[in-house]
Amino acid sequence: MQRSGIGRALLALLSCVALARDAAAADFSPPDESLYLMGRYVYERNCLVCHGRWGDGDGEMAKGMIPKPRKFSAGIFKYRTTPAGTLPTDDDLIRTVRGGRANTSMPYFTQLSDREVRAVIEFIKFFSPKWRRPENFAAPVKLPEPPAWLDKEAEAATRAAPGKATFALACASCHGEHGDGKGPALAELKDAWGDPAYPADLRLPAFRNGRAPADIFRVLTLGIHGTPMASFAEALTEEQRWELAAFIGTLRPPKTAKR
Ligand code: HEC
Ligand code: HEC
Repeated sequence: MQRSGIGRALLALLSCVALARDAAAADFSPPDESLYLMGRYVYERNCLVCHGRWGDGDGEMAKGMIPKPRKFSAGIFKYRTTPAGTLPTDDDLIRTVRGGRANTSMPYFTQLSDREVRAVIEFIKFFSPKWRRPENFAAPVKLPEPPAWLDKEAEAATRAAPGKATFALACASCHGEHGDGKGPALAELKDAWGDPAYPADLRLPAFRNGRAPADIFRVLTLGIHGTPMASFAEALTEEQRWELAAFIGTLRPPKTAKR
């Protein structure tokens, strides 16, 4: 009786492992060799000055840059729609290259053709062996639609109040009471690349990850891999994460504040 129980548990576990492996295999997108040469050409002309010859983030222009250009050789990516710790999708990479990242030196590239962008994102995968292991891949996390109350100004303002209270408890230590990014923990924060990490100034008009409530919700749910910005999917309910998005929506730089 007991043994069959264990046997069944073991079988269930094994099928879970198999399912997870199948899921990873379905999302597996190893570097495409056929685009290597074209990718290298695009990289050398557009990316090397910052990201460096070997993708170490130490190009000629990288000196003093905060944040530093991504070190592709480490295989850790901040801008993802996938679960923490997994690699970004091709679309995630394309979004960064096409759109750039606000408040960083990562420029946007509109002059490159779609094929050139495809080729260069394949090329940067050759810098890290992580891109050859199916277990590092996952599908984007499905996130809920923003609740209808976010579109109703009065209601969103009401919901921002509990958001503010949650912010004081869960976020202010890093982001500061007023969201200026200067919380008391600031001095101790480091990122996965060994550099000082700076909590975002949430009063800025543009965010690296986007300023729409859905963007803030995504950051709170997935975290920002490689940085102290952890996932709050377990610690906070969906409701609390939307309320935080509503509160952050009310933050603005002092000089543009309506008052
Ligand atoms: C002027 C310097 C500069 C140039 C040129 C540049 N980058 Fe970047 N890039 C950066 C910086 C700085 C970051 C880090 C942004 C951050 O940490 O938020 C970055 C981040 C990225 C990321 C995000 C990685 C992640 O963590 O999700 C990708 C992808 C990327 N760059 C690709 C490219 C490609 C491809 C090119 C060339 C077509 C390029 N970059 C050119 C400075 C540059
Ligand atoms: C342990 C410190 C820490 C805590 C606690 C923390 N954050 Fe962050 N947060 C960071 C850091 C560091 C970054 C910058 C990551 C990067 O881009 O390098 C960040 C980035 C963000 C961003 C992305 C900004 C952008 O430009 O896209 C948002 C939104 C955010 N945090 C909201 C919150 C909220 C809301 C909470 C509370 C639930 C919170 N954070 C708690 C450290 C923290």
